[in-house]
Amino acid sequence: MSVCAAIILAAGKGTRMKSRLAKVLHPLAGRSMLGHVMTLVKSLAFEKAFVVVGHQAEAVSKLVSEAGLSPLLQDPPRGTGDAVLQAKEALKDFSGPVLILNGDTPLLRKETIEQFLADYEEAEAAVGLLTVFLENPSGYGRVLRRKDGGIDRIVEEKDATAEQRTVKEVNTGVYLCDADFLFRALAQVQPNNKQGEYYLTDVIGIAVSEGLPLMGCEADPKEVIGVNSRADLAAVSAVLSQRINKQWMAEGVSFIDPARVQIDATVKIGADTVLYPGVCLQGETEIGEGVTIYASRVLDSKIGDDVMIKDHCVLEKAVVESQAVIGPFAHLRPDAVIRKKAKVGNFVEVKKTVLGEGSKASHLSYLGDATIGAGVNIGAGTITCNYDGKNKFQTIIEDDVFIGSDTQLVAPVSVGKGALIAAGTTITKDVPADALAVSRTKQSNIAGWAKKKRAKDL
Ligand code: UD1
Ligand code: CA
Repeated sequence: MSVCAAIILAAGKGTRMKSRLAKVLHPLAGRSMLGHVMTLVKSLAFEKAFVVVGHQAEAVSKLVSEAGLSPLLQDPPRGTGDAVLQAKEALKDFSGPVLILNGDTPLLRKETIEQFLADYEEAEAAVGLLTVFLENPSGYGRVLRRKDGGIDRIVEEKDATAEQRTVKEVNTGVYLCDADFLFRALAQVQPNNKQGEYYLTDVIGIAVSEGLPLMGCEADPKEVIGVNSRADLAAVSAVLSQRINKQWMAEGVSFIDPARVQIDATVKIGADTVLYPGVCLQGETEIGEGVTIYASRVLDSKIGDDVMIKDHCVLEKAVVESQAVIGPFAHLRPDAVIRKKAKVGNFVEVKKTVLGEGSKASHLSYLGDATIGAGVNIGAGTITCNYDGKNKFQTIIEDDVFIGSDTQLVAPVSVGKGALIAAGTTITKDVPADALAVSRTKQSNIAGWAKKKRAKDL
């Protein structure tokens, strides 16, 4: 492959999305729509890669710079041809092919672009066009061919005659074009169309009128869906999800019903993991081997081997070590660390807390800002009172402590190794190792009192 530059067009508003958010920033499987296109371009290791930004330029530029690409401002956006012109200065010393992509076509695969590049070089064409045949071509620019089969020009749907609209071969918005010709041709493009825009597509007609060689390369319709509306976004999301799930199946991950599992493109999963319907794995999540997950959401978390996550759990920025059992109905919040073989059960919320190896918090608890050792039993209804309305305080529970049900630990406080806390206790001062702590009042039984009250009430 010869040296190549890339330009991604992402300045448009995306009016048809009816959104406050610029179209290319819409999230899709853990990245923005534009993020997918930038990931593709980066995987091709081009010498120079630019993104034309305009609408919500600040936010889009930030994303572009973070990805290591260079933003170019188009202000105001006056069409796709005008967008590409913004790269003229940056590419003035460059000669060779320029790959042009739309920021709203996130399903394109690396293999497709590599094939397109290879075909383009072999054809020694001035302009290469990736096209596709669609049963329903509405919304796309139609590829008009001459009688001899050669490409003649592209007509946008809004400018097309009824007959031209019946053409099923459409422009995907992916082009390869010789840099010198590209900028020379763009200087001639005029906004003589229904939208009053400078169309990049007019470059095709200019190449034809100059007698330059053109080539068309056919792509898979599923790869080149351009997102213009929410319906397109949903269609793209479904294709991407299928693709991601298939890839994990090939890597040894089981899905009970893949259509009902959502996995971001950024997630990693080990073999022999089983995912039940309703699982949603997001962000930088890493799942180990042999993990079982029922309907739950896991975001930016690390899950060790052979962990079980039962139904309706939410894990955010949490770490769960091997063989631990989570849920049902557990909430692990940022910096929850659940050590090996530990158990977090029904309606337990854990935040900024380490739950030591083999320790259990099985029912109805809040554990926040705590360090809990190994072999600890946290009784039902235990609460670490970590907040006084202004500041947060730490609770330390050493190994082998038994905390009875309905205990409150008013932080800062620590419980020494092997201590026992009686049910219903409110701990306000440190408990020494091996001690028993009880804070409730002694029980007294008054014989017959209830019976007498009932008789009086009658
Ligand atoms: C464009 C093509 C059409 C093709 C379709 C494929 C033109 C004139 N039409 O139409 O032939 O079938 O893509 O999906 O090129 N953009 C800018 N600056 C602008 C205008 C647009 O950067 O001034 C960007 C947009 O952000 C978007 C891309 O260019 O990422 C395409 O623009 P869009 O308005 O979606 O073009 P389509 O009507 O889809
Ligand atoms: Ca589009």
